[in-house]
Amino acid sequence: MDRRKYIENPYRPGAGHKPPHFAGRNRELSHFKQLLRQNFTTENLLITGLRGMGKTVLVGQLRTLAEREGWVWIGNDLSESASLSEDRMALRILTDVSDGLTRVLTHHNESRDGRYASHRNDDKDVPLPFEALRNMYEQAPGLPSDKLRHVLSRLGSMVNHAKARGIVFAYDEAQCLHDHAERNEYPMSMLIETIASLQKNEGVAQCLLVLSGLPQVFDALTETRTYTERMFHVINLDRLSRSEAYAAFMTPLSDLMPPLFAHPDLIEKVVDLTGGYPYLIQFFGKELVDHLLQNGGVLDVDQFPSDSVIDRLDSGLFAARWNRTTDKQRDVLKLIASRPNTSSPDFSAQDIASIKDSDLTSAQATQVLQALCERGLIYRTRHGRYAFTVPMSETMILRRFRNQAEVEESRQNALGLALAGPIEQPKAIESAESKRKRWSWFR
Ligand SMILES: Nc1ncnc2c1ncn2[C@@H]1O[C@H](COP(=O)(O)OP(=O)(O)O)[C@@H](O)[C@H]1O
Ligand SMILES: [Mg+2]
Repeated sequence: MDRRKYIENPYRPGAGHKPPHFAGRNRELSHFKQLLRQNFTTENLLITGLRGMGKTVLVGQLRTLAEREGWVWIGNDLSESASLSEDRMALRILTDVSDGLTRVLTHHNESRDGRYASHRNDDKDVPLPFEALRNMYEQAPGLPSDKLRHVLSRLGSMVNHAKARGIVFAYDEAQCLHDHAERNEYPMSMLIETIASLQKNEGVAQCLLVLSGLPQVFDALTETRTYTERMFHVINLDRLSRSEAYAAFMTPLSDLMPPLFAHPDLIEKVVDLTGGYPYLIQFFGKELVDHLLQNGGVLDVDQFPSDSVIDRLDSGLFAARWNRTTDKQRDVLKLIASRPNTSSPDFSAQDIASIKDSDLTSAQATQVLQALCERGLIYRTRHGRYAFTVPMSETMILRRFRNQAEVEESRQNALGLALAGPIEQPKAIESAESKRKRWSWFR
């Protein structure tokens, strides 16, 4: 019997997909555990990182931890929130509260021996459905922020009733939520001011805010009326270490060996290719298992990754943004990608203007950098510098220019041949070096 037929590819490349083996992030998890155990919450959590760095998956792990420690988890994704008014934002939070509390209370009503107390139907603290919360909100006096505070400050008895320690409010893709001073709408301010005020107020349910999003979430936060650095512990998610990347990649693979077989050199090569970037671990893991399955369970080190794998990666990760750029912007991207100090993740307009091959003034560089921000290739960092939104953008840019140069070279060769007439040319033998270049992700 061919056992390979029954193998399901375990890797999960894709936004928010739970990986088969969650690696690393121990420091982040233990810090969160401490936050959950403090008696009075004064510190909240802000998780930032580029796309694919594992924010959503980490938030999922935090949720498991929080629920295990007896907290109620109320959360959502703010990706559709760019133009929310305060009123709409307040109602969204109430919808999430209603969903979260109903889930907890119903669950514990069903499993009476659980951590939370079961509730009786005749109890006046029945889980409040959304309509009841909305009525309470609408009848409360004041601005949307006063009304929201009023409703949330009354959740204490329900949280006590559920014998929960408190509520975690968790919002992912938080960079989408903005204040709009021009419209006099401050939904982001409202969210953090409401949580801060509940945290100052003894006697109401303990709560903790977890925000996660792209690095520019800072812009949205620092523009709020009362943001203080002290309010958040900031976690900037970076790549995994090599040993963590190895564990994330190897643990699911070793379960499949045999019947699959991957030579240790091939495994080392793939771990290097991922560079510790969580999305790439899942991407290359999935591609490798697919290729092993198609190839009778074994692969030569040189057979992976094929050009089609690299093309798929490139088109998934980078191409859409790249295709929206002009030639001039591409020239500047090339300058950035080949700047002398690529070990530093960020750069300024001045850095670009002072590169040897650059003929831009600082002001011109600023203009192009702003246009690249609008196209989503780079973003302004907290310190007014710039950085790429997609990890390894430098490598992808240089790969494109190298490909373009290769195409141009072969076009020139073809032209030369055509002009020279139909002379038999010896077929170039591909050197080991040029072969390696085609797969080497890290230049
Ligand atoms: N700690 C980890 N170990 C292994 N794989 C991970 C880890 N964190 C994230 N991943 C994988 O990386 C990919 C991107 O994760 P995701 O949480 O969606 O990133 P983000 O929210 O930062 O864009 C997913 O395919 C996920 O399975
Ligand atoms: Mg995410």
